[in-house]
Amino acid sequence: MNPRKISENVYLLGAIDWDRTLFDSLIPLPQGTSYNSYLIQGSEKTVLIDTVEPDKAYILKNQLQQFPKIDYIISLHAEQDHSGTIPQLLEQYPDAQVFTSVREKPMLTDLMPELDPGRITTVEDGETLSIGDFTFEFLYTPWVHWPETMSAYLREKKYLFSCDFFGAHLATSEMFANEDPLVLVSNKLYYAQIMQPLRNFVTKNLEKVNTYDIEMILPSHGPIYNVPSFILDAYDEWVNGPTKNEVVIPYVSMHHSTLKMVEHLMTALTDRGIQVQPYNLTVADLGQIAMSMVDASTIILASPTLLGNTHPLMANAIAVAALLKPKAHFIGFIGSYGWSDNVPKKVADMVAPLHKEPLPFVNFRGYPTKEAHKQLEELADIIQQKHQQIGVIN
Ligand code: FEO
Repeated sequence: MNPRKISENVYLLGAIDWDRTLFDSLIPLPQGTSYNSYLIQGSEKTVLIDTVEPDKAYILKNQLQQFPKIDYIISLHAEQDHSGTIPQLLEQYPDAQVFTSVREKPMLTDLMPELDPGRITTVEDGETLSIGDFTFEFLYTPWVHWPETMSAYLREKKYLFSCDFFGAHLATSEMFANEDPLVLVSNKLYYAQIMQPLRNFVTKNLEKVNTYDIEMILPSHGPIYNVPSFILDAYDEWVNGPTKNEVVIPYVSMHHSTLKMVEHLMTALTDRGIQVQPYNLTVADLGQIAMSMVDASTIILASPTLLGNTHPLMANAIAVAALLKPKAHFIGFIGSYGWSDNVPKKVADMVAPLHKEPLPFVNFRGYPTKEAHKQLEELADIIQQKHQQIGVIN
């Protein structure tokens, strides 16, 4: 793709990664992603904001051929999908200087030892950089997504360059998000997987950027927000909004006993007006589970006992949930066993780091009996009461 004009003197560069399926060797990317760079031509200096993943460097370098001079490279975030091509660009533009946050500079040189620290200038929170007729203001926005992350506000255009913050892993040739609900699904998936664990920081950063008069938000992944309220309002709901009347049920079953328990519980919950979302962990997409955890009030884990432990797929799901730090209020466990009934105690220890109110665990030997059904219905009653207490159901 050639450089594309966003407005007078502001261009979108970078690479669309249509084929990428995984980020950080963990996060599924069902719709690929993009690495956005932005070029701003001031009356005195030309600036490039962020670069691209090194394997896409050739695309950015081709785009830059029509811009003979880059004076400044603003690096908003040290992760290589945005910073990895800086060393090559410093070779291409021997007079260019890099601007980063104070915390980012050593991270850049740690990650890319070939970088000359003498070519990196640090900026403080609130500091400005003039490029003639345009002025950037730097806002420290830590932990969206790493501790050094910052954003840049182009005052004359009222553009906020936010890097990972508000991004979407979405490969699309559409430059603007407009108010496309499909973009919002990608945003929510991205939020669920990347920003959800950092919710407290996201809240503070959201408050900070909301003090600015913003005409457009230009992230370094996905389309540009030409209607800023579209993404700002969505973030406000995901971060600060209440949970919903929903129960997410990651489950695994070996011989259908646990599956029958899940089915019975789901029926009991829906009879009580509670939404359910099961995920069979043998086939489930981790991203979809993460997205359900943005809204769910209750998490019910369902697993058989395997060699005296919960199933390894469940152990992995619990570990991921602990990383995501979902807003859910309540957590429970149901399952079946053959001869060893010590799993509930082990699961209780495993879920303790999530800091959720535990619900009664239901663990039964073999295929679920009438007594098991009765206990599952009692569990559904308790979930209904709990949801009433937190006000998500009448
Ligand atoms: Fe898009 Fe944290 O990198």
